[in-house]
Amino acid sequence: MNVAEQVGQSTVKTFDAKKVRQDFPILDQNVNGQPLVYLDNAATTQKPNAVIDAISDYYRGYNSNVHRGAHSLSDKATAVFEAARETVATFVNSPKKEQIIWTRGTTEAVNLVAHSWGRANIAAGDKILVSTLEHHSNIVPWQMLAQDKGASLIPIPVSEKGEIDLQAFAALLDSRVKIVSIGHVSNALGTINPVKDIIAEAKKIGAKVFVDGAQAVAHFPVDVQSLNCDFYGFSGHKLFGPTGIGVLWGREELLNEMPPYHGGGEMIETCSFAGTTYNQLPYKFEAGTPDIAGAIGLAAAIQYLQCFDRDEVSAHEHDLLEYCHQRAATCEGLKRVGEAKNIAGVFSFLLEGAHPSDVGMLLDQQGVAVRTGHHCAQPLMDALHIPGTVRASFSIYNTRDDVDRLFAALEKVKQFL
Ligand code: ALA
Repeated sequence: MNVAEQVGQSTVKTFDAKKVRQDFPILDQNVNGQPLVYLDNAATTQKPNAVIDAISDYYRGYNSNVHRGAHSLSDKATAVFEAARETVATFVNSPKKEQIIWTRGTTEAVNLVAHSWGRANIAAGDKILVSTLEHHSNIVPWQMLAQDKGASLIPIPVSEKGEIDLQAFAALLDSRVKIVSIGHVSNALGTINPVKDIIAEAKKIGAKVFVDGAQAVAHFPVDVQSLNCDFYGFSGHKLFGPTGIGVLWGREELLNEMPPYHGGGEMIETCSFAGTTYNQLPYKFEAGTPDIAGAIGLAAAIQYLQCFDRDEVSAHEHDLLEYCHQRAATCEGLKRVGEAKNIAGVFSFLLEGAHPSDVGMLLDQQGVAVRTGHHCAQPLMDALHIPGTVRASFSIYNTRDDVDRLFAALEKVKQFL
């Protein structure tokens, strides 16, 4: 049985957010006595029945280790697990499924490249560029690498609006820049970075480019060949899949040249005390028993998302943001943070006279779930001279009613100030 058969056909054919909500059982509940309004999708998305069922079917019906067993359940688990890799390969338009490496998430994808490619290719005096918008997971692994190697980690500045300063970026490019690592979409502000242009510029000086797609893949289609990046990483749980599973996509020749990241079972070809030879792609980077249920769940999530017209999904989310911005313009005391021209999924703001964490707590008391604080982007908050923001983040199942509930709740928050 392949993953498509596992998931079955989605009940939804034409996009209708109110119908989509019915696929997500968690949304149908009260929190603190009010119907839940879930606006913390940039932290993690909720899971549709198709994903919950695919994971449950694996554990109930064919739980076994992959690539190892001499029995039917293991054969079945292996077939569905490898079909999941193919689903991901098609999803990002990878030339080959062997270029899809399972990781625990985007964070591990960055760490894998920083440790494996980075240790082999970064030398003293080299430069690594990241933007000031980055999540800590796209800063700290590079900082650790730079410290170990005597290289420099250089931040590309951003404007007050939350857009990467492309002129400053171009001015930073020289022959010592070996890799540029950029978020496709900012988790804190929602800025959609012009990664295609950034990649093209970086290629002119021979630098490699890693794209952190954690906040992108749920909002619009991604094509790694069209982007022409060298590495692309994303997490399952921000894409309606389970936590603990993610993906590193890499250019085949780079992955082949790179040394293994973790040692253990599965990643070897032969092992003896005289020395070990390593397995081929993708297994060279997949030591130990993988997250089998996670991979199956992620493939189910992708197949669920692909039941919709992605343009309709993007248009719906864009409409929600536009509506949110309209409401914000008439909400006294509210200041938007991040006003980039292109934004996906995120509405970040401050309320005059209120600490973001107090706003978050008062919204939660009214059933509205948001994230507050620095959003694991402290250098960005420092650059904007703010301690943090309140962040409402949208997904496929949110509606204009959710936006109305957010602003009604904010009016009540103001009464406490
Ligand atoms: N990176 C996740 C967020 O932005 C956890 O909330």
